[in-house]
Amino acid sequence: MTKTLNAQIIDCQPFQDQKPGTSGLRKSVSAFKVPHYLETFVQSIMDTIGGGQGKTLVLGGDGRYFNREAIQIILKIAAANGVAVVKVGKHGILSTPATSAVIRKYKAFGGIILSASHNPGGPNGDFGVKYNVESGGPAPEKVTEAIYATSKTITQYRILNAPNVDIDNVGTHELGNTKVEIIDSVSDYLELLESLFDFAKIGTMLTSGKFRMCFDAMHAVTGPYGKAIFVDTLGAPPDSVRAEVPLEDFGGGHPDPNLTYAHELVEIMFAKNAPDFGAASDGDGDRNMILGSNFFVTPSDSLAIMAANYKLIPGYASGISGVARSMPTSAAVDRVAKNLGIPCYETPTGWKFFGNLMDAGRVTLCGEESFGTGSNHVREKDGIWAVLFWLNILAATGKSVEAIVKDHWRTYGRNFYARHDYENVVTEKAHALFDRLHELLPSLVGKEYGNRKISLTDDFSYTDPVDKSVSKNQGIRIIFDDDARIVFRLSGTGTKGATLRLYVESYETDEARLHLDAQEALSDLITTADEIAEIRKHTGMDRPSVIT
Ligand code: G1P
Ligand code: ZN
Repeated sequence: MTKTLNAQIIDCQPFQDQKPGTSGLRKSVSAFKVPHYLETFVQSIMDTIGGGQGKTLVLGGDGRYFNREAIQIILKIAAANGVAVVKVGKHGILSTPATSAVIRKYKAFGGIILSASHNPGGPNGDFGVKYNVESGGPAPEKVTEAIYATSKTITQYRILNAPNVDIDNVGTHELGNTKVEIIDSVSDYLELLESLFDFAKIGTMLTSGKFRMCFDAMHAVTGPYGKAIFVDTLGAPPDSVRAEVPLEDFGGGHPDPNLTYAHELVEIMFAKNAPDFGAASDGDGDRNMILGSNFFVTPSDSLAIMAANYKLIPGYASGISGVARSMPTSAAVDRVAKNLGIPCYETPTGWKFFGNLMDAGRVTLCGEESFGTGSNHVREKDGIWAVLFWLNILAATGKSVEAIVKDHWRTYGRNFYARHDYENVVTEKAHALFDRLHELLPSLVGKEYGNRKISLTDDFSYTDPVDKSVSKNQGIRIIFDDDARIVFRLSGTGTKGATLRLYVESYETDEARLHLDAQEALSDLITTADEIAEIRKHTGMDRPSVIT
């Protein structure tokens, strides 16, 4: 029976700045708390998807400050827009990959993820809203553009006048004519992972007493997942998971799994008597960092090693159709693909570009240099999945992380890799650097720097092989005749000023040089990059804010 809705129509002024970036709409909490700001954006989503009638949506977030409040607001807007069912993670918690898994499992129409990923949280931190489509992946550009266009002209939103829903217990509630189902945040996702990995073998290793792991949830969303999966299911000792309680401000930390921000884990893994395996994930659980005892695995190498070892993993052993990496990611995986005789796609930065390739069955594994790896089991990158992939390789081979990586370099050669971020640069100055580079590009071809010669320069453009859509200006590439590369991009996820990203890569096969420190091996290219782009002059900074 349909009840008459106690829905209110609220008049509002449209906002002009709700343009989704690399990964949804991301702003400071204070911006999201401006009256009607969240509401108009959510109504813009509803309008863009053609209203809520008959639809099932999934809703959850990374537990950051404003998550719980936003969930209640979104539930009431969804109900006022006639959404049939909303599945909400208990306590409002759903990691990004788990949301993707739930959308796919229940064939939902889409989902809303509340997260600003690795950006700091708390009242002075960031918040974000991302819309995912029925494939479980981030909305493609044509959808986010349509949401943005709507948000610029919207003058009304609909919201139910109702008390808050209890989101802290699994169960079903009625909100107007909408069924709100509070679901366990972990179980559907765990079931999917169990179908891919050899849990018995991993469990034997973790309970053997001879293998120690340390997973750092960084007080973000993967705490409950890490505990349920590594400790409760696989039997690892409880202290194998640290910082496992999700906190609204991530304990004051910056939940980004890299050598700079996950320094507590790094200290543990680079100490004497370090555990055999270390890993961390980010705010919303889609990123991962992999460490061995006194050893760091670059994300680009991690992707290549996964591809090279797919046969060890039950869920992939029957074959992988292809691989994909974002343009700035190192070409290590390209060499593996070549060896396996499978295609390797180079896409622009951002996970959404992998979606079409996976839906079309063209790729199985994909990854980005920014600590993101994943597969076609969901349509997001997946931190816990990557950790299990590595644990499965370790359990199947009995080798250490370091030995696996070094063996890989001996077989395929090594792609030395580094990313330098210059954060909070004055926007005009960052643009001036790019304008100047654009003018310079044609004249650079053929120029020599040390013993390298520039063979190609461009601003990367991508034509999606599936839907033929074209994405231009995805980063400036300077490619040398020995496969070394320098890439410049501006971040699409930062919320303060501009962030300049410089990516440098060189390829090495000389056994004697394979084990050099990456920054050292790349120092000549780093100097060349500054010489060409005048980074110091434009940013006013004499060193990057973060090196990964
Ligand atoms: C950054 C990363 C990119 C990743 C995105 C979302 O985007 O570089 O690889 O997909 O975060 O996690 P950027 O700030 O560079 O636009
Ligand atoms: Zn993330």
